[in-house]
Amino acid sequence: MASVSAPEFWTDLYARGGDGWELGQPAPPLVDFVERTPPPLGRVAVPGCGRGHDVRFLARHGYDPVGFDFSPAALHAARALARPEGVRAAFVERDIFSLGRDFANAFDGLWEYTCFCAIDPARRAEYVRVMATILRPGGWLLACFYPLRRRSAGPPFPVTPSEVRRRFAPAFRIERTLAPRSAPRRQSQEWMVLLRRTC
Ligand SMILES: C[S@@+](CC[C@H](N)C(=O)[O-])C[C@H]1O[C@@H](n2cnc3c(N)ncnc32)[C@H](O)[C@@H]1O
Repeated sequence: MASVSAPEFWTDLYARGGDGWELGQPAPPLVDFVERTPPPLGRVAVPGCGRGHDVRFLARHGYDPVGFDFSPAALHAARALARPEGVRAAFVERDIFSLGRDFANAFDGLWEYTCFCAIDPARRAEYVRVMATILRPGGWLLACFYPLRRRSAGPPFPVTPSEVRRRFAPAFRIERTLAPRSAPRRQSQEWMVLLRRTC
């Protein structure tokens, strides 16, 4: 079996209906946050965007989003869903760990949901470095971390608030934390954070 760091691992899950993460709609934590306290408009990166429900939601709300995913199956579905809506949403097939090369300081904001828990935990420091590189200084990173539980096998690989605080400093400063409205099967397993890229 391919490793979680290879697109084939994820494409295989999409192909055989192993996509248990699929909500079929924008993530409730994102919906609530944007509708109540919208971050400033601008160019927004969505790493590991899957079928792109959050990307289309951001586009409908005036953002200029780019969804990144390295699974062709995910992006094929994302583009097919976006086309009839006519929304301004871009989807780029890329390994997120290669984004620093071409997208340094390219984004005003970033939405993280179920990508951090999908990558090999040994690459989390690298993930933070790449996100800090593609976000402009002063840019915002809104994240909903999942799953807050002890299980170590994954994906999804578990995460704790203390690990997030430790890993994202000093490149990011935490501005706000909240308990989000989660999808029913993720109740009490999510922690939402608004971070600011330090200058
Ligand atoms: C658990 S799924 C979540 C998808 C989407 N965020 C959602 O909530 O429906 C993780 C997604 O991240 C993608 N992914 C995992 N590692 C990646 C990497 N290194 N580069 C790009 N995409 C990656 C997978 O292909 C998959 O579509």
